[in-house]
Amino acid sequence: MDKKRASIILIEGPNLNLIDLRPKIYQSKNSNSEIFQKIEQFFELIYFQSNYEGEFVDILQLIEINNIQNISENSNFLEKIDKSEKILGFLKKIEKKNIAGVIINPAALTHYSIALSDALEILTLPKVEVHLTNIYKREEFRHKSVTAKNVDFVISGAGNFGYYLAAEYIYNLIPIC
Ligand code: DQA
Repeated sequence: MDKKRASIILIEGPNLNLIDLRPKIYQSKNSNSEIFQKIEQFFELIYFQSNYEGEFVDILQLIEINNIQNISENSNFLEKIDKSEKILGFLKKIEKKNIAGVIINPAALTHYSIALSDALEILTLPKVEVHLTNIYKREEFRHKSVTAKNVDFVISGAGNFGYYLAAEYIYNLIPIC
């Protein structure tokens, strides 16, 4: 894979679209757009946020299908995926792209979504779970991640700088050619 043309996918889970309403819990030094700009220095960034569990399953399946075959040339797998307008829009963004890896902050789904965990297990790309806060310092129900066993590793408590750290890790996995 050519490092210059690689893309990275950043996925944020439920309620992270309105993080600015909870500055006491989720304060980062930099805004998301500043962190995204830093990541865009070495990757094309494809961003997806949703409040719906099933949409994460759909897009993770799409990412894997895109990874193992050229989506537009072989639609066998695609036929099996429910395609809402939002999912189709995401498909357009990833199709024919060299995706180097996935960064995911599953938000509350981290703690209970076996469906998301299974979808992550299917995904064979490098994958990092990121939490803005240190989930081990918070309520006990947040200490368990059911998704962690299906990612390469977890970054928790570095604010949105964790997204940048995850991107660096994935960038360094790309062989120089
Ligand atoms: C979070 C931690 C989760 O427990 C919580 O439900 C979130 C955000 C974080 O980034 O710290 O929504 O994933």
